[in-house]
Amino acid sequence: MTEIEVRDMKKDYVDEDVVTSALRGISFTIDRGDFVSIVGPSGSGKSTLVQILSFLDRPTGGSYRFFGKSIDDMNDRELAHVRNKEMGFVFQSFNLLSRLSVYENVEIPLLYAENVPAGDRKKLVEDAVRSVGLEEKLWSEAGRLSGGQKQRVAIARALVNKPNVIFADEPTGNLDSKSGAQIMGILDDLNKEGHTIILVTHETYTAEFASRIIRIKDGLIESDTPVETPRRSREDFFK
Ligand SMILES: Nc1ncnc2c1ncn2[C@@H]1O[C@H](COP(=O)(O)OP(=O)(O)OP(=O)(O)O)[C@@H](O)[C@H]1O
Ligand SMILES: [Mg+2]
Repeated sequence: MTEIEVRDMKKDYVDEDVVTSALRGISFTIDRGDFVSIVGPSGSGKSTLVQILSFLDRPTGGSYRFFGKSIDDMNDRELAHVRNKEMGFVFQSFNLLSRLSVYENVEIPLLYAENVPAGDRKKLVEDAVRSVGLEEKLWSEAGRLSGGQKQRVAIARALVNKPNVIFADEPTGNLDSKSGAQIMGILDDLNKEGHTIILVTHETYTAEFASRIIRIKDGLIESDTPVETPRRSREDFFK
């Protein structure tokens, strides 16, 4: 089932009188349950693309359909609604509220979501925190955790509302290799459970966890190729 369909997508940023063409005509589709890496040099348009795919920004040209529905037919309120319901986010810089507890950080998307009764929240938060192995830190202040632990909290927050797709922009960028591998293992598990994963990364090694790599250069797709043997399916990876 096609989840994301992008046709000739363009994005111009206009700053004073300077126009930057960050995306210059990009087309691809992503199926539900895919694990896709987006790679390319700094400034090539990766974050711009992910911001548009996740409804944080609108393109200046081309079309974008999410589960068959064109974003041109959705107002900002509808986009926010779909976003809260179907999408989760993990960033390089964690973006946690450092004075709040792990529990409170992970609960945030549920406070924005409609139709989540207060009584269900506790279990959803606890399940999400357990799935990243941080149950003993549930009431710790987020600001006091290690980098790897912070990113696990961010992942718990991204998955607490059981989104269809998880966007991860350089999630291992600020982590040592062991914590990075742990984060990739969690994203891999989420993909096996059926979540679509869209990962932006600089590192070929990390990119190869996906089953497909889209390479971007100067706002255009340079290549879009399957990964012969995704790293996640290599039995010996975590041993
Ligand atoms: N808000 C903005 N206003 C103006 N120009 C922008 C804005 N955001 C991005 N750009 C420009 O668009 C181009 C693509 O930026 P983008 O952040 O998408 O690159 P990237 O591939 O994510 O790079 P990196 O690997 O360094 O994160 C760059 O030239 C950048 O300077
Ligand atoms: Mg970027």
